[in-house]
Amino acid sequence: MIKSNTQIDKSLATKKVVFYCREGYEADLAAELDTVSAKLELFGYSQCKLGSTLVEFNCYEALSLHQQENAFHIDELIFARQRLLSVGSLIFDKPTDRVGSVIDFLKQDLNSSLLFGDVIAEHADNESGKQIAKFCKKFVVPLRQAMRKSKLLSAKPNHALPYLHLYFSESNESMVCVSLPNNRHAEPMGITRLKMPADAPSRSTLKLEEAIKTFLLPNEQNTCFQKGMTAVDLGACPGGWTYQLVSRGLRVEAIDNGKMSETLMQTGLVEYHPADGFTYAPQDGHVDWLVCDMIEKPERVAELIASWLVDRKCTSSIFNLKLPMKRRFHVVEKLLAEISEKLEKHQINHKIAAKHLYHDRDEITVIIRSGMHLI
Ligand SMILES: C[S@@+](CC[C@H](N)C(=O)[O-])C[C@H]1O[C@@H](n2cnc3c(N)ncnc32)[C@H](O)[C@@H]1O
Repeated sequence: MIKSNTQIDKSLATKKVVFYCREGYEADLAAELDTVSAKLELFGYSQCKLGSTLVEFNCYEALSLHQQENAFHIDELIFARQRLLSVGSLIFDKPTDRVGSVIDFLKQDLNSSLLFGDVIAEHADNESGKQIAKFCKKFVVPLRQAMRKSKLLSAKPNHALPYLHLYFSESNESMVCVSLPNNRHAEPMGITRLKMPADAPSRSTLKLEEAIKTFLLPNEQNTCFQKGMTAVDLGACPGGWTYQLVSRGLRVEAIDNGKMSETLMQTGLVEYHPADGFTYAPQDGHVDWLVCDMIEKPERVAELIASWLVDRKCTSSIFNLKLPMKRRFHVVEKLLAEISEKLEKHQINHKIAAKHLYHDRDEITVIIRSGMHLI
């Protein structure tokens, strides 16, 4: 039986929202949540332990149905990998029947007749989490069977339904959470797993691939990156980002003093210029995409990208901003606001989004779309 909205409201009327992030970025995510909650007038406080990969936001009042679904949208948070509603916790006194304890919890404590579309057993993405990864993988198999038998889980994975998340800090202790279809990262632990293409010249290629898949829906990916479009890649060598563009049929001006992959040059789609990325201008005055992976001060990169957009040298852009050592969220928030202000001043209708991607390290990836890429 699928619950009505009122029932969902009742069993998910929690005060606690839980988020995952990269290890070491807990305080940055907490600062971001505090800023976002103030804008939403959602009163509460964030709590985190450095290195835990986990941040909790505790609201003073239980979330309304609208807040359960929409508050702290995963697509609008920079440092969050996952966003979950926390509905309880479990300590397994009987390690021989953990599955039974979960079923009892769902039926009795949560008093839920929610039908879940999937169940995920997960752990911190850090050294201590690795110790229980194997356990999580094994545990979920009998749990799935038992949940199906109790009519708590759909017969096949169903993306349109809530998912149950069991977050194990130890094998005998778990937080019980629920994710909702339009406000979650669909993959376990909020991690986009990508296969390294065998012929790509560098692992950096995964950063641009993840960015395209994170920021754009499949139909948007096809419209925004089409055969015959043009791009400039600043800091292109050895060619991981250019590889992603060329694979989608774009013609690329690759700018760098380093060495570009021979295989990419042989595609006939790449024009190499050993020039300075800060002074280079596109050959025909304009390209569809400006991508930039130069390791430089974030202020300099932000200013450069804004000037390309304002001067109509590119329609849209994907670029990295290196993160400073301190006050990372506040620095990034300020830079993004400054770019947006400049574009607004020049009446450039645009959409901006930023994410600390799984394949990013001490940097975030930003997309700014305008013109025909605003679909
Ligand atoms: C992280 S690597 C880029 C990796 C590349 N995106 C890939 O996928 O293979 C940074 C590159 O930026 C280049 N770079 C740094 N400053 C630059 C500048 N001012 N102009 C052009 N290239 C620059 C470096 O030479 C280096 O190759």
